[in-house]
Amino acid sequence: MERSLSMELVRVTEGAALASARWMGRGLKDEADGAATEAMRDIFNTVPMQGRVVIGEGEMDEAPMLYIGEELGTGSGPQVDIAVDPVEGTSIVASGGWNALAVLAVADRGNLLYAPDMYMDKIAVGPEAVGQIDINAPVIDNLRAVAKAKNKDIEDVVATVLNRDRHQHIIEQLRDAGARIKLINEGDVAGAINTAFDHTGVDILFGAGGAPEGVVAAVALKCLGGELQGKLLPQNDAELERCIKMGLDVNKVLLMEDLVKGDDAIFAATGITDGELLKGVQFKGSYGSTSSVVMRAKSGTVRFIDGRHSLKKKPNLVIK
Ligand code: FBP
Repeated sequence: MERSLSMELVRVTEGAALASARWMGRGLKDEADGAATEAMRDIFNTVPMQGRVVIGEGEMDEAPMLYIGEELGTGSGPQVDIAVDPVEGTSIVASGGWNALAVLAVADRGNLLYAPDMYMDKIAVGPEAVGQIDINAPVIDNLRAVAKAKNKDIEDVVATVLNRDRHQHIIEQLRDAGARIKLINEGDVAGAINTAFDHTGVDILFGAGGAPEGVVAAVALKCLGGELQGKLLPQNDAELERCIKMGLDVNKVLLMEDLVKGDDAIFAATGITDGELLKGVQFKGSYGSTSSVVMRAKSGTVRFIDGRHSLKKKPNLVIK
């Protein structure tokens, strides 16, 4: 992949964030998602690449845009696989909450896990604790390992967990251990990425969320030198059957190399609403401002990019 692709790709998440941010707090999550999806697709098609969606908005018959298998890009340039989440946290946008992101991940063809749309159990940490975690180990062991790696007491470790009934046992174990907990209502991609940035104050993510989100977060953590381990959690026979058909072993711990192969991948995200890492979109007069991060695994470069976009000159968010 060419290095310049990173800059092209951040335009895509910027456009998606600008489009969906108009729907902030209006209680209409599908509209927010639809606006972001449309903008993302339009801008993707100006990027010089031969892209194919492997994680998207659904199968072709259920998603009109950014469906799995859809080809994106100008049709010339590197052959890449694309994972998109035009709005990661649709309910967050609908309620004007914290940490909604427009995100995408790109890797050389064949290098992203084609994760089915089901739950995945996850554990994620930033660079200091790489190699120290084990998704099959008890919560306390992982807390001890992270505390040691980060030279902290367990009482100082902050764990992010999606606030769900299914995570009650994790929350209880964290409380018993005396760790600090950040319960989030949505958005475990941000939850995972935040473990790699000290200033977010988060050390580890535990719990089950979407499998596609797991792959997207793994790409980000690969770029950042962090680690995510996952285990697919089919909820019924049909989901189990789907895994078997796709050749996915549900008992296997998915490690970084299973989630995203090779040494290169690009991750881009733009804040839709404010979060610990990125500010949300703001509008004033004919301008929209965005805050994004774009990173590349091969070089390890992480760029934070503030954008100011003229909505007068680009009313459709793209100049074709
Ligand atoms: P959406 O953007 O699709 O609404 O996903 C938000 C999210 O919170 C993800 O971050 C997370 O992986 C998943 O939903 C958790 O699913 P559930 O809400 O079913 O627990």
